[in-house]
Amino acid sequence: MAQLIGGLASSHIPAIGGAIHKGLQADPYWAPFFAGYPPVQKWLAEHKPDVMVIFYNDHGLNFFLDKMPTFAVGAAARYDNADEGWGIPTLPSFQGEVDLSWQIINHLVAKDFDIVTCQEMLVDHACTLPLKLFWPEGEAPVSIVPVNINTVQFPLPSAKRCYALGKAVGEAIAAWDSDKKVAVLASGGLSHQLDGARAGFINKAFDLQFMESLVANPEWATQFSSLELVEKTGTQGVELLMWLAMRAALSSAGPRVKEVHRNYHIPISNTATGLMAFEVAG
Ligand code: DHB
Ligand code: FE
Repeated sequence: MAQLIGGLASSHIPAIGGAIHKGLQADPYWAPFFAGYPPVQKWLAEHKPDVMVIFYNDHGLNFFLDKMPTFAVGAAARYDNADEGWGIPTLPSFQGEVDLSWQIINHLVAKDFDIVTCQEMLVDHACTLPLKLFWPEGEAPVSIVPVNINTVQFPLPSAKRCYALGKAVGEAIAAWDSDKKVAVLASGGLSHQLDGARAGFINKAFDLQFMESLVANPEWATQFSSLELVEKTGTQGVELLMWLAMRAALSSAGPRVKEVHRNYHIPISNTATGLMAFEVAG
């Protein structure tokens, strides 16, 4: 059976792509952000996942407001990058792990999740940037399964529902008939609001409490409705639902889940940036 080896969570912001492109990693503005990543790069180099299941939110690139699935799972052999155009200029396509896509899709439908199945799917900065941060040299040596959660247009799924989705994805990975090593990734958050009266809103106290909760009490944030999460973290801060889904995927491993790294830095662009890594001890 496949082995679920760990979970990662990272913020995503298109400007990071621009900073990478311009080589600004050591610039005083960017340095505290990029300094968070080498321990995760090292962990990945040591543990070498073959596949990454990526919880992320599309930003209007693949799904627009006219058709907005709550949950959508990629089942493509290849995913092309379609960012807004102010990130990394051109990223090569990502290879899909089609067999695991269908394993996850079949399991989710059997567990009564009404998902959209995408045999063609463009991916944006949310899906691609963390991979660039994890493997800054060259292409990411993993195939991927993108799992999209709507945080763009209301109504949003609840934190409780996203946790249940992540748990079911974790079960599907554990039951996958494969000798591959799988890691789960959450891309989004932490607190930020890009527009409206609260543009620039950041809630450090909540972010830190949320990150801490994921270590030993991962269901803590499921007490909040998505609207309450918007109130606490901003209209885009609700992207932290991805972190909940990722952590839920690891939950069946119980006490064997250990935090291996954490970084928090305010701000990059309008966003409080967070990074966490969890390992499932063998
Ligand atoms: C920013 C943050 C995001 O999550 C995003 O998708 C786009 C932009 C920002 O802070 O600039
Ligand atoms: Fe975003």
